[in-house]
Amino acid sequence: MTTNEPTRFERLQARYQARDLPWDHELPPPEIIAAAERLPPGRVLDLGCGSARASIYLAARGWQADGVDFIPEAIELARERVRAAGQEARVRLHLASVTDLHVLQQPYDLAIDVGCMHGLDEVERRAYAAEVARLVRPGGHYLLFAHLRTREDEPVAVSMPDGVVEALFQATFQIVQVERGITVVGDQQWHSAWYELVRRQDDDAMMG
Ligand SMILES: C[S@@+](CC[C@H](N)C(=O)[O-])C[C@H]1O[C@@H](n2cnc3c(N)ncnc32)[C@H](O)[C@@H]1O
Repeated sequence: MTTNEPTRFERLQARYQARDLPWDHELPPPEIIAAAERLPPGRVLDLGCGSARASIYLAARGWQADGVDFIPEAIELARERVRAAGQEARVRLHLASVTDLHVLQQPYDLAIDVGCMHGLDEVERRAYAAEVARLVRPGGHYLLFAHLRTREDEPVAVSMPDGVVEALFQATFQIVQVERGITVVGDQQWHSAWYELVRRQDDDAMMG
């Protein structure tokens, strides 16, 4: 069956073309800022980096960042912002899907995802989780913000079922914190959570 509905890629691309990016505040969220204060600088992987606001913030604090996004216009915008911030030496940008990151090699000390994973379907989420586990070093951190669906019929366009993070990552990461909340944008609101995970040692991961 064919449909004229725009794909998720097309919807996101149209947003970047129109610069209709309600999430694109100047600073990254407070949870990323707090992580930058408590973790020693290292290599960070910014999954679904958008305009690279988090990568730029972390680069200015000594991190070496790799930002990945699959929308060419997002990577173009990110390049402009990285150049304007004078962070070309510390931020590398990659046009790629977070479901296939073969262009990148481990080890990363930190992976961050602010609003990317929750738009993936089930098959994509599995591929994404395998890539995150491959790239983050044992003891490395992974911070994730996602919109959650607590009921299957919940009218939230971009969200993933609650419990997915636990199911996908419990073998490879320890889930050290989950902070649930309600995200409000304009007259819309939805369930969401911040997750902090720490990569298990490979031996532990194999034991499940
Ligand atoms: C809500 S935006 C957030 C952007 C950025 N993380 C921030 O906080 O400013 C989600 C981003 O994920 C990107 N994205 C969604 N699916 C992706 C995929 N499969 N591979 C790479 N990027 C993806 C989108 O293009 C978009 O830039």
